[in-house]
This record gives sequence, structure tokens and C-alpha cells, in this order.
Amino acid sequence: MASVILGILLVLFPLPLSAKAQTRGNLTSGILLTTNDGNSSLLSPSAEFAFGFRRMGRGAYLLAIWFEKIEDKTIVWSANGGNLAPKGSKVQLTADRGLVLADPRGIKLWSSGLSGTGLAYAAMLDTGNFILARKDHGNLWDSFSQPTDTILPTQQLGQGSKVNARYSETNYSPGRFLFTLQADGNLVLYATTSQPISLDAYWATDTAGIGFQWIYNQSGLVYLTLRNGTVLNIVTSSQVPMGEFYQRAILEYDGVFRQYVHPKMANSSSGWAMGWTMVSSPVPSNICTRIKRDTGTGACGFNSYCTLGDDMIQRPRCHCPPGYTLVDSTNEMNGCRPEFVLQSCDVSRPEKDQFALSDMLNTDWPQSDYEVSLSVTEGWCREACLADCFCAVALFKDGTCWRKAIPLINGRMDGSESGKALIKVRINNSTSTSTGNGQKKSKNSTLVIIGSVLLSSSVFLYLLLLLISYIVYKSFRSRDSKFSRPVQINQAMRMRTFTYQELQEATDGFKEELGRGAFGTVYKGVLESEDTNFVAVKVLATRTGESEKEFEREVSAIGQTNHKNLVRLLGFCNEGQHRLLVYEFMSNGSLADFLFGSSRPSWYKRVEPQF
Ligand SMILES: *[C@@H]1O[C@H](CO)[C@@H](O)[C@H](O)[C@H]1NC(C)=O
Ligand SMILES: *[C@@H]1O[C@H](CO)[C@@H](O)[C@H](O)[C@H]1NC(C)=O
Ligand SMILES: *[C@@H]1O[C@H](CO)[C@@H](O)[C@H](O)[C@H]1NC(C)=O
Ligand SMILES: *[C@@H]1O[C@H](CO)[C@@H](O)[C@H](O)[C@H]1NC(C)=O
Ligand SMILES: *[C@@H]1O[C@H](CO)[C@@H](O)[C@H](O)[C@H]1NC(C)=O
Ligand SMILES: *[C@@H]1O[C@H](CO)[C@@H](O)[C@H](O)[C@H]1NC(C)=O
Ligand SMILES: *[C@@H]1O[C@H](CO)[C@@H](O)[C@H](O)[C@H]1NC(C)=O
Repeated sequence: MASVILGILLVLFPLPLSAKAQTRGNLTSGILLTTNDGNSSLLSPSAEFAFGFRRMGRGAYLLAIWFEKIEDKTIVWSANGGNLAPKGSKVQLTADRGLVLADPRGIKLWSSGLSGTGLAYAAMLDTGNFILARKDHGNLWDSFSQPTDTILPTQQLGQGSKVNARYSETNYSPGRFLFTLQADGNLVLYATTSQPISLDAYWATDTAGIGFQWIYNQSGLVYLTLRNGTVLNIVTSSQVPMGEFYQRAILEYDGVFRQYVHPKMANSSSGWAMGWTMVSSPVPSNICTRIKRDTGTGACGFNSYCTLGDDMIQRPRCHCPPGYTLVDSTNEMNGCRPEFVLQSCDVSRPEKDQFALSDMLNTDWPQSDYEVSLSVTEGWCREACLADCFCAVALFKDGTCWRKAIPLINGRMDGSESGKALIKVRINNSTSTSTGNGQKKSKNSTLVIIGSVLLSSSVFLYLLLLLISYIVYKSFRSRDSKFSRPVQINQAMRMRTFTYQELQEATDGFKEELGRGAFGTVYKGVLESEDTNFVAVKVLATRTGESEKEFEREVSAIGQTNHKNLVRLLGFCNEGQHRLLVYEFMSNGSLADFLFGSSRPSWYKRVEPQF
């Protein structure tokens, strides 16, 4: 190592370095750098790597190591990505805590710590490793054993080591992907950095018990070895002459591990662009379809879907389905939100007609299902999703219909997905709620004005009298109607009205309970007068304040959504407090089929979200 260092030993000189100066060699103690130094940095002897502050935005600095001779000065390591340093911060070498990054008031932002005592110097090496060492050159700390998202040739990582993707291309705070050689010897990629469970891995070498070390060697090979050094698994490799190319391998913010090379000279090797070129295959080869966890977002954010780009590195891209928009317009990986008001689950204003389905081929959101129906048609699947306020997306494939709820996870569009996704979107974005509120408001203010005018006139008393008599009259009418035979529901629907007594007899006093839901209980019954003998009678929980009109609307809505695959609504009873719905009982299915049917969820179950 001595040969790679141009030893300019600065013994016990409290630096600061003069502005814009670039220092090479071993440094002892004192202030190494301050942000005020502008572009100053500590260079490796070859000047290929630099250690110093990089300005990330207005007045925010990152303490980092980078390729000094490359135009974009690619960062390979950073100390304080999640906690940028303000202007005036400095990094200091201390005997007890190693490198300490502190803000202008002296408050610590980051420190390296030391694995022993006797710190003699710090050095930026030509390999890209920044070391803190004793006089005898034993390392007390080095950046190679504390990698951020990048590894470099000659770097070796042991069991328990971790490489954490950054948050976005330009944000160096920790992101959500992790590459780790676990203590058990398995080299694994995870889509979470918080307590990953082995089931959640989206790529692994499956070398638990034997994997020992993870090496990026000078031939450009990234591989895993056994304890005795035998190569176990090659992760990536480059076939370029080491001396002519810079190299790095990085777990990028999109969760993909890629190896890159960059020519050192413009004409070092013909055919290479003066930029980073990916060599070897990305790991994993298709992250969009690879991640399939029960929790978490998938490769992209919630409600979005992932596609592999057709660029050189096949960067996964995150998109929003129709009707959805990015939560954070500056980061497509942060997921999407519906641009419309979601379907109301309030049965008093069913909104089925206000939604349509947008078709997307080769698209799926696995692990977002809450309901599955077998042996159905696409038409049935569409109707079922539109009628179900919880359904955000339905997936139809080979006669099976999956219904999916928000937030949608693991979204992908890929040729390997053979299903058709049906995205539910509101046809007319202006909702009854918002316009309703607006009207109410203006109505209220109009009332206030009219009220104050009237109050000041004597006409008011007469009007008040009229109003009171009207209210008294109206309340008598409505009390009457509670005992009268109600409502004429659309006769075209061939629905019958039943009396409460009829249904009481039919169910033998509501004896045999078929099931119970939040909105009522279902009983089995027999109608002697009908050709379909068995019926299911649903007694709706009494709801105060619900008008006749609302109940009529509900019954009409259910009547209209009747479908050949659904249980038919035969009629209803609306008598005073009693509100009941009478369904055809499926004679060819068992009771369990009717209520919780696995092949065809019962109408009872399906209608539940509406009530
Ligand atoms: C500087 O550091 C390097 C690497 O640890 C070491 O080999 C070299 O001897 C040091 N030079 C001096 C003058 O201490
Ligand atoms: C830093 O270097 C860049 C390019 O090398 C230059 O454009 C910029 O002005 C420098 N900034 C300071 C503060 O010296
Ligand atoms: C890198 O590792 C490969 C595989 O073990 C080996 O063939 C090659 O010689 C190594 N290169 C160096 C410079 O050690
Ligand atoms: C290394 O260990 C493996 C299994 O423990 C063994 O099969 C292999 O022969 C060993 N290689 C050497 C070079 O010792
Ligand atoms: C490019 O290569 C030619 C010969 O192949 C050499 O004369 C020239 O100096 C090289 N240029 C650079 C910038 O290295
Ligand atoms: C729909 O309405 C919501 C809320 O009123 C609004 O934020 C959104 O931009 C609208 N979407 C479209 C497509 O107009
Ligand atoms: C959308 O709703 C508004 C208000 O309810 C209505 O004025 C408008 O005509 C509707 N547009 C369409 C295309 O249905």
C-alpha cells in the first residue's frame, strides 16, 4: 500500500486547508475540511479518488468519496446522506471518535467511530478506500467496511455486511432496498430495510451455512466465496482491462444491482462511450415481476405499476394507472393516488352509474386481492366490480375474477402477465358531495339574508304561522304513511311487495337463520304461493332517519343490478319499522354456498358492501 500513497505527512498541523487547495497524502489530526473551502478535498495519490464535501443544494453538503477524474464526479460513498451538513460545517480527525462531522455550532452530525486506539493518520487510498490507521498501518476504520450503496474493486465484505440503496438518484439518504450478506451466509436482496424477513427476499444466492465473503476483485468479478476461498456464486462480472477502466458496482435506488465501467481515457479502448456503461446482467434481471410480497409496495410505490425500460440498463419505470396521478411529482417511485373521489359505500346514494372500467392488458397487482370468483364471465367480473364500492381494480383471467382494493401493491405490466386488469375510474369527476356542499353553503347565506329582511317586517309573523301549520300537517301525513301500504317500485322489475305478516309466516317466525351481516340478518323461508318455493329473507337493521324514498332507491338499485349469475331479488317489505328484502334461494347450492360460496360468492355477500 505504501507505493500508492504519496506521503506528505502533516504532523500535528491543525489544517484548515487553504481555499480550493487539494491535498494528497496522510493526514494526522485537526480539522480536515470545512464546507467553506469550496472545492477543496483530499485526493488519493493518483488523484483518481477524492474525499470531501459535495454541495447537494443551497447550503447543504454531503461528506463523500468520489471519482475525481470523471466529469460527473460519481460519488461512491457518503457519510451523511440522511442528514446533510449546513454551510460552515467541518470534518475533524479526533483521537477518540475518529472522523467527526459537526455543524458550525459544533453539534455532531456524523462520526465514524474507531475500532481501537492509537489513531495516527487518515488517508485517501487509490482504491477508493478512506482509512483511519495506527502508526503501524493497522486500520481502525475504513470506508470499505462501511459501504453505502457502491462497492469497488478490491473491496471485500464479510458476513453481516450491508449495502443500502439511496432514496433517489440525487437524494443520498437511505432508500428502501438492501443487499446484505447475512450472518447465515446467504447473500440476499430485500425490498425493505426494516427487519427484513427471509420470505421477503426478491433475490438470493441460497447459500445459508456456506457463504462466507463477498468480493469485488481486481479482475472485475463480483462473487461470493466459501470460507476456504472457493468461488461459490458469481454475481456480476466485467471483461474489461482493469487498468483502462474505472469500475463500480452499485445497488441503485430502483433496487437493482448493476456493475458499470467507465474508460479512463477518451481513446483507451475503441467503441466505449465516455460514460458509465453497464456490464453483465442486472440483478435481478426483472425487478418489476420479481417482487411479490404480502406487504410493502413492490418495486414501485402504492397504486402504481412497474415496467422495464427499453434503455441500455433497463431501468424500471413506475407509472400511474388511468385516473391516478403521482403522489410526489418529483419522484415516480412514491406511488400514485386516485385523481377522483372514490366510490361511495353509502347506499342512500349508490354511485355505480358514475364509474367506468378502463382496460389494461398484461397488467396485475398481485397480493392486492380481497375477493376471488371462479367460473365467471368478464361481463360478470365488470358488473361485480362496478357494484362493489370496495373494488378499485378487477383482474379477469381464464374465467376467474379477482377484486382488488386500494392501496394496490406489486403493480407490474409485463408480457408474462396474461390477465386483463379493469381499472375503475369515475366518469364525471365533479361529485354530488362537493357540489351539494357548495349549494348548501350558498343556500344558507341566502337564507340568512332573507331571514333578516323578513324579521324586520310584520309580514314575518304571518309567514311563521303558515309555516307552523304546514309542519303540523306534514308530520300527521308522514305518521299516516307509516301504516299505509307503501311505494310503487318499478313494476318492470317484476318485484313483489310482501306484508310483514306474510314473511313472518314464510320464515316460521324468523326461525332458521342463514347468516348475519352488519346490515341485517338473513333467514330461510318458504313461500307457498310461489313456484320458487324457498326464499332468503333479509331483515335490514332499522335505521332511523331513513326516508321512504331512500329505501325505494335502494331496492331499485339492487333490482337493476340483477344479473343471471346473481341471486334474484324477488321483492321487499316496507311496513313501518320493518324493512325486509326477499331473495330467491338457490336450490341447487348448499346453504354454505349461498352465504359464503367459494365458487360464486352469494348475492348476500356481494351486496353487503352496499348496505
Ligand atoms: C501513509 O498511509 C499509507 C497507508 O496506510 C502507508 O502505507 C504509508 O506508510 C503512510 N505514510 C506515512 C509517511 O506514514
Ligand atoms: C468548483 O469546481 C467547479 C468545476 O470544477 C467550478 O465550476 C466551481 O466554480 C468551483 N466552485 C468553487 C467554489 O470553487
Ligand atoms: C478474480 O477472481 C477470479 C475467480 O476466482 C479469478 O479467476 C481471478 O484470477 C481473480 N482476479 C484477481 C486479480 O485476483
Ligand atoms: C473448499 O471447501 C469445499 C467445501 O467445504 C470443498 O468442497 C473444496 O474442495 C474446498 N476447496 C479447497 C481449495 O480447499
Ligand atoms: C489517443 O490515442 C492515440 C494513439 O492511439 C494517442 O496518440 C493519443 O495521444 C491518445 N489521446 C489521448 C487523449 O490519450
Ligand atoms: C377530480 O377531483 C379532485 C377533487 O375535487 C381533484 O383533485 C382532481 O384533480 C380531479 N381530477 C380530474 C381528472 O379532474
Ligand atoms: C358532470 O356533473 C356535472 C354536475 O353534476 C354536470 O353539470 C355535468 O353535465 C356532468 N357531465 C357529464 C359529462 O356527465
